[in-house]
Amino acid sequence: MRNIAVAGTGYVGLSTGTCFADMGNRVTCIDISEEKINMLNQGESPIYEPGLSEMITRNVRGGRLHFTTSYEEALEDAEFIFICVGTPSGVDGEADLQYVRMAAESVAKSMNHPLIVINKSTVPVGTGDWVADIIKRSQPEPVEFAVVSCPEFTREGSALHDFMNPDRVVVGSRNKEAAEKVAQLHLPLRARIVITDLRTAEMIKYASNAFLATKISFINEIAVICEKLGADVEEVAMGMGFDRRIGGQFLNAGLGYGGSCFPKDVKALAHMALVHGSHPSLLRAVIDINRDMRRWAVFNIRDMVGGKLDGKRVGVLGLAFKPNTDDIRESPALEITRMLQNEGALVTGYDPVAMKGAGKSNPELRLAEDPYELAEGADALIVCTEWNEFKQLDLTRIKSLMVQPVLVDGRNIYDPTIMHELGFRYRAVGRTYSEPNGNGNDQ
Ligand code: UDX
Repeated sequence: MRNIAVAGTGYVGLSTGTCFADMGNRVTCIDISEEKINMLNQGESPIYEPGLSEMITRNVRGGRLHFTTSYEEALEDAEFIFICVGTPSGVDGEADLQYVRMAAESVAKSMNHPLIVINKSTVPVGTGDWVADIIKRSQPEPVEFAVVSCPEFTREGSALHDFMNPDRVVVGSRNKEAAEKVAQLHLPLRARIVITDLRTAEMIKYASNAFLATKISFINEIAVICEKLGADVEEVAMGMGFDRRIGGQFLNAGLGYGGSCFPKDVKALAHMALVHGSHPSLLRAVIDINRDMRRWAVFNIRDMVGGKLDGKRVGVLGLAFKPNTDDIRESPALEITRMLQNEGALVTGYDPVAMKGAGKSNPELRLAEDPYELAEGADALIVCTEWNEFKQLDLTRIKSLMVQPVLVDGRNIYDPTIMHELGFRYRAVGRTYSEPNGNGNDQ
């Protein structure tokens, strides 16, 4: 049993704190938002993450998990503090570190015994050293501490599973003893542990996310070429993915990546490269292709409803940036909605869990109770998020409710042949449809 504090109760902080508590440690999570802490103390999770509420309740009842707004209280017996606060994008794509600075200052002012400060937030290379400087400068009396980088690699929607079953744990520090202690904290996970220096650990996080984003933009570029040449990107990806050097994951063509990490991290890495005099051409292409996929969606809807979107009714299936989360940050659905609205379209959306946030962020977006209400009177539907519940809709009913049977499948969840047989005017990303006799192609 270890005493652990966690600063920040977003996706990363809450899942980290709750999982460490579930492993038998005593964890206190801190947040500056009283509203969030009150919710958590009443057993409610401020975010939607499968399994998280149950795990919070179990560990609160077990006396292992606590929530507070006070750093003093959280640090009273803590040996470790994980900094898991947000690092949003600044104006030029650089990471905005104001919350990391605030957390570091609060730690410095409240610590009264030796402490290991672990950065889990995705922070620019060199931030660990900067955090160490801030703590040193802000301490009223010198107290020993070490800074360690231990980046998170969990995905939203499967954060608990990913935390408990990591492919690897990366631990970086100038202080070998502190790095060993943080590695030991992760031993019950039985994962490979990579111990390295502070800056290398910070870079591993950026390079990993940028590589995965590159895979997505790569397959999206291939998808658009497939459309022109009459090949099927789904089968291309499968054919490539069986090669173990390539691997089949993150080769799903679609409307591109969104969320709180990939868009921000690729931009931040490109920004770091620029500032230090190098030319991040590949990263720039990754960002451009990702943006182009949003344009691909609008182009195809416009084209299929007769060349003009003005006054057309478009239904958006899925508003979260991916399934199993209510997170709408950098969601392709919302970017596409804006672009459609800018051309005069009347857009309605439906999502199993993300409607509240989406409605708040775009008050002109109408909301439907279910996919059938969404289809009623629509000139076109677009699938933006591949929620399971969309995969087996009653498509005959959907079609009968629409003004025009136009469906753009931005996540390739339907079979093009079946969709044509049902009478839809259907387009998917990187997939063409050929008549059984080999003639004709809708694209
Ligand atoms: C990502 C990383 O996977 C994780 O390691 C890191 O810690 C945080 O960022 P997350 O943002 O939760 O996790 O989602 P992820 O499942 O990786 O998907 C990111 C985006 O890429 C989503 O918008 C998803 O729809 C898109 N995506 C993913 C594709 O378009 N195609 C794919 O093949 C895979």
